[in-house]
Amino acid sequence: MEQIIMYPDADNSKEPVDWKMVQGQHITALVRNILVLGSGGREHALAWKLAQGDGAKVFIAPGNAGTAEVGTNVNIKVNDFEGIKRFCLEQEIGLVVVGPEQPLVDGIVDFFKGDAQLQKVRIVGPDRRGARLEGSKAFAKVFMEKNGIPTARCLAVTKDNIGDGLAFLATLKAPFVLKADGLAAGKGVLILDSMEEACRELEGMIHGKFGDASSTVVIEEFLKGIECSVFVLTDGQHYLLLPEAKDYKRIGDGDKGLNTGGMGAVSPVPFCTPEFLKKVEERIVKPTLKGLRAEDVDYKGFIFLGLMNVGGDPYVIEYNVRMGDPETEAVMTRIEGDFADMLYACADGTLDKVHFAKSDKTAVTVMLVSGGYPEAYEKGKAMSGMDQLKNCVAFHAGTAFNAEGQVVTAGGRVIAVTAQGSSIEEARAIAYRNVEHIRFEGENHRNDIGLDLMKLSL
Ligand code: AMP
Ligand code: GLY
Repeated sequence: MEQIIMYPDADNSKEPVDWKMVQGQHITALVRNILVLGSGGREHALAWKLAQGDGAKVFIAPGNAGTAEVGTNVNIKVNDFEGIKRFCLEQEIGLVVVGPEQPLVDGIVDFFKGDAQLQKVRIVGPDRRGARLEGSKAFAKVFMEKNGIPTARCLAVTKDNIGDGLAFLATLKAPFVLKADGLAAGKGVLILDSMEEACRELEGMIHGKFGDASSTVVIEEFLKGIECSVFVLTDGQHYLLLPEAKDYKRIGDGDKGLNTGGMGAVSPVPFCTPEFLKKVEERIVKPTLKGLRAEDVDYKGFIFLGLMNVGGDPYVIEYNVRMGDPETEAVMTRIEGDFADMLYACADGTLDKVHFAKSDKTAVTVMLVSGGYPEAYEKGKAMSGMDQLKNCVAFHAGTAFNAEGQVVTAGGRVIAVTAQGSSIEEARAIAYRNVEHIRFEGENHRNDIGLDLMKLSL
């Protein structure tokens, strides 16, 4: 039987987690109160994995109907830093895990580090300076250039040098890539087939198409290849490569139609061979961490590398300073070991001491979305079939409880069904068998998650 000893004195939470085997009994020396910030499928997957950690008690703010199954939802918004502080102090939270990018870009880590009362609360995520890797694409490109990190050729343009932008476009071949510098809810990248369109959109972006986010536009050379997402967990000195994944961004089968937040994921990715991942480490991960240290950025958290594999060589398409969604829903199922231990170690700077392995299984995640998504869609639809699911995990992306306490849809992306198998084919078959059980009015999903990779791996 497991005996849990609580040490309410907050000072104890500063001690490293200490496991003891006493006469064959596993004694947890610390109850670990963990707060996950966010409300999507990524946060459900993070909370699900963290809740499996020894002694872990997980809270999610604000969470969704699914996170309520693995922890306790707390009605605080991710941008309410004072509310988060009060909750951390009241509940003796030992670790805060920040899911989405916005609070990081807005400086939640700086807020914690600068507050005398919050010194004992660990937080996983970069400070505002580290978060610029995602918060400003122009900054990220300069950073990559400075540190010799392979990426597409580019030019940053504002209203003051539109002429240079047009001249740079003339040096590129179609398609043309225009990126809003700032955060634009995943919508700030345009890929355009004609020069005429590219020139028109460049003017439109600079003059406010995405508000302030596009007052600076990065014009980029188009890279042709296959994309993948590689996830790094770093304490600033040491790092772990988490399982990689492939995301399916467009709404329709065959990668057709509008861009979405992500319609599915597969992990591992067959073309991410040990040789490819070695190149990623040597050419991208190490120079990135070295570059951050050179700028005195104390980066403790996730770095999500959006990569293009161009003929076997990795190029950075984008940095994100958080985990991906829906990649996390696949990745978390393949992490073996205590994820809470890993994140405590990340915050404490001791990632080199952590035991961590990746499951050999393949995980396939299929996202069920609301009718109309990624454009206008209705919420509040009743859901059925969740009790029929077998051999999978259904992470909730956009769900809530209605007044009667029933689970209803509450977002564009609704449920991320993740199944594992010994091959993509097997994992797909299990995932899709379960997807068929879940019903809500207007439900839509892609039918081809992982198909392209199966063809590749034949
Ligand atoms: P981002 O928000 O930077 O990830 O861009 C959104 C999507 O646009 C990426 O996932 C790629 O599919 C595509 N993309 C961005 N930059 C490039 C590029 N330089 N070459 C080709 N595709 C790109
Ligand atoms: N799945 C892509 C992202 O989280 O940005």
